[in-house]
Amino acid sequence: MARKDLLDIVSLERGEIDRLLDQAAPFKELFTRSVKKVPALKGKSVLMLFYEASTRTHSSFEVAAKRLSADVVNFDVAHSSITKGESVRETIETLQAMRTDFIIVRHRNSGLPGVIAKLTKASVVNAGDGAHAHPTQALLDAFTIKEKFPEPAGRKVLIVGDILHSRVARSTSTVLKKLGVEVAYLGPGTLVPRVGPEQTRRFTNYDEAMAWGPDFVYLLRVQMERQDVQYFPSVREYHRLYGVTETRLQQIRDRGLYIMHPGPVNRGVELCDAVMDYERSLINDQVENGIAVRMSVLYYLKPESGEA
Ligand code: CP
Repeated sequence: MARKDLLDIVSLERGEIDRLLDQAAPFKELFTRSVKKVPALKGKSVLMLFYEASTRTHSSFEVAAKRLSADVVNFDVAHSSITKGESVRETIETLQAMRTDFIIVRHRNSGLPGVIAKLTKASVVNAGDGAHAHPTQALLDAFTIKEKFPEPAGRKVLIVGDILHSRVARSTSTVLKKLGVEVAYLGPGTLVPRVGPEQTRRFTNYDEAMAWGPDFVYLLRVQMERQDVQYFPSVREYHRLYGVTETRLQQIRDRGLYIMHPGPVNRGVELCDAVMDYERSLINDQVENGIAVRMSVLYYLKPESGEA
């Protein structure tokens, strides 16, 4: 069945996840060629509607769309009539009249991309909504893990940090579990939900979490801007208890573990500078894979001619 939108990971079936990840591999091969473009979305338009800041996701979608030969329009929220009080509905109705084929949307409110998807015939891709979902980040994380372990079922991923506010933790743990990967959370008790339908293993002590035997240590950015109250005493305390310090990096190296991070990183908080040069850091791989996976997503949602 054709899918119009990608709003979250929960609604993706296993077969769709496999297809999206398998399809990303040939797109990645394209990056080694002198001409990195294919005509798959020639004549289609992709509108970037980012109400929240983004470096990686925004540029990655833009590069992905251009490598598929789509036309990209950057909707400048800061200089649009939104600043004069225009509602999301009015904005979308205006964009609908322009017959754009895709809308890539990031917004601080959970569920907003789903509302937009109902208002438009364009394919809507959620590029991160509040603490709800970040499906393309999850897919690129899964792709990056599968590059190291093509059959990832049974592998273990420890997600460390601010789970409570993290759409990445929510989406990435969901996709990994669908692939049979074991996931656990580590962080201060105030930032790691105690209950939930996912029943994810939960640690508040670094050494106990490492004794669980992860293959990947996935560090999250501490999101100071989403913390309405103080969840831990100080950044220094957080780094000491949960950060990858130089001593912990040596343990991670000795065990041959991989480190991942969705970015942007807070040096001196969730990791020390040396992590960026660690030979098993996959942080740059995640960025590169993001383009291939987003090409795969756009190609998967590709509208039929004249449908939009
Ligand atoms: N990983 C991620 O979403 O990064 P940006 O906020 O820079 O897009």
